[in-house]
Amino acid sequence: MQNRSTYVVSNWKMNGTTALIHDMVQTYRQSVRRAHWILCPPATLITETRRHYPEIALGGQDCHHKTSGAFTGDISAHLLTEAGASYVILGHSERRHYHGETSTTVAEKACTAISHGLTPIICIGESEETYDKKQTIDFLKKQLNESLANIHRTQHNVIVAYEPIWAIGTGKTATVTDIEQVHTFLREQLPNTPLLYGGSVTGSNAREILSTQNVNGVLVGGASLKTDEFAKILDAAC
Ligand code: PGA
Repeated sequence: MQNRSTYVVSNWKMNGTTALIHDMVQTYRQSVRRAHWILCPPATLITETRRHYPEIALGGQDCHHKTSGAFTGDISAHLLTEAGASYVILGHSERRHYHGETSTTVAEKACTAISHGLTPIICIGESEETYDKKQTIDFLKKQLNESLANIHRTQHNVIVAYEPIWAIGTGKTATVTDIEQVHTFLREQLPNTPLLYGGSVTGSNAREILSTQNVNGVLVGGASLKTDEFAKILDAAC
């Protein structure tokens, strides 16, 4: 049985439109009251969404570790807050892969985000090779410690998302046993932190994933752009 604190995070990546936001919010008005939906659209859509729908929780998909400066194309934590975001996804595997982000950078970004009033959603996850070698927990232990290095785990608001890289956008999900094993480990490290699972979450598997022990929510990419599919995920979280 899920409760109000079940998170459903939409990671729209470099997709989505203002029209899609209107469509989704109209469709989800009822379930949004019960599930904790956090919409992370492209940064340019945050301000208008906040203006139209003050009740929707919004997040950015990244922020710079510096407060401001000559960083063409980047976005600061302050600007996200000003636009109306309360959350920011940090250390997503696509940022780590395409932008060379290290866990050290993620830790710096998390500090900056917190100091500007944002709750970081910190992503961790192993490669397929690491998974096949059965080194997932060792890998995650190091990545978690480095990514949360600057954070006081019991004092700061943080969310951690376990996203196996090989499950992102591939249609392969980790088994419930895999998720349970990782989340049990994460719970030992982070007794009070909401723990999410991400990687090919759909309307068909969300309920099972959300009923796994120590899973407090899901981080959804592809399926979060499909109004009907995502409605099923929100329903599973209610
Ligand atoms: P996916 O993406 O749901 O499309 O696998 C998840 C993510 O990248 O956060």
